Amino acid sequence: MYKRILVKLSGEAIGQDDGRGIDSQKLERVAQQLVDLNRDNVQITVVIGAGNFWRGRYGQEYIERTTSDYMGMLATTLNALALQEMIESKGVPTRVQTAIEMKQIAEPYIRRKAIRHLEKGRIVIFACGTGSPFFTTDSAAALRAIEMDSDVILLAKNVDGVYNKDPKKYEDAKKYDEITYMQSINEKLGVMDATAITLCMENKIPILVFALNDKDSIKRAVNGEKIGTIIKE
Ligand code: GTP
Repeated sequence: MYKRILVKLSGEAIGQDDGRGIDSQKLERVAQQLVDLNRDNVQITVVIGAGNFWRGRYGQEYIERTTSDYMGMLATTLNALALQEMIESKGVPTRVQTAIEMKQIAEPYIRRKAIRHLEKGRIVIFACGTGSPFFTTDSAAALRAIEMDSDVILLAKNVDGVYNKDPKKYEDAKKYDEITYMQSINEKLGVMDATAITLCMENKIPILVFALNDKDSIKRAVNGEKIGTIIKE
């Protein structure tokens, strides 16, 4: 169904049950799906968040906002390196590229090199968000998806799609199969921040929102199974 995808993973998605640190079993389940898709010749990029290590200011109010955002960017690198190791342990070459240079640790982000990696059958993980404070990793996912000419953003969440109201609070919350970008912004559905959705809207990249925890959900999404909610024009 899709030839080139960008998978957005939150840090919590690979965190332990309290959302912190890294749960190797969750990481393994994600990695295995990416490996299987790679073997089916799907070109895969990943943007990973950091909420399992650093979120907002974590109550450390003396830390200035931009510093706090940079700390979050550093934390995405921890997740990116762990995911790289997990995927490579399954035999698929993987490259991490960082939006902020840390050359001893990983390659800097270079778009043309990232595309070359995909062409050579490697999985590419983008770390450090956009490299700028005040932008979320969702915005980084939108930006990289556009730059890499991805067919879709697969937004793996802890809920199985987009609802008209919070399904954890309201029993009568209804799940959408399909919504428009404008609807998700206007109705403040809280899928992605408005910056990220606007970027996708202007560049016509569909966003598929689905639950990471459902078995093989990434593979099923790529194979065109009707899961989650698709956000498009
Ligand atoms: P091709 O040239 O397309 O074959 O790609 P390649 O990534 O295999 O070759 P390259 O010689 O660029 O990289 C070899 C290894 O070094 C890979 O594991 C890269 O991830 C890593 N690497 C490349 N550039 C950097 C860098 O700037 N910093 C770090 N830390 N590693 C790098």
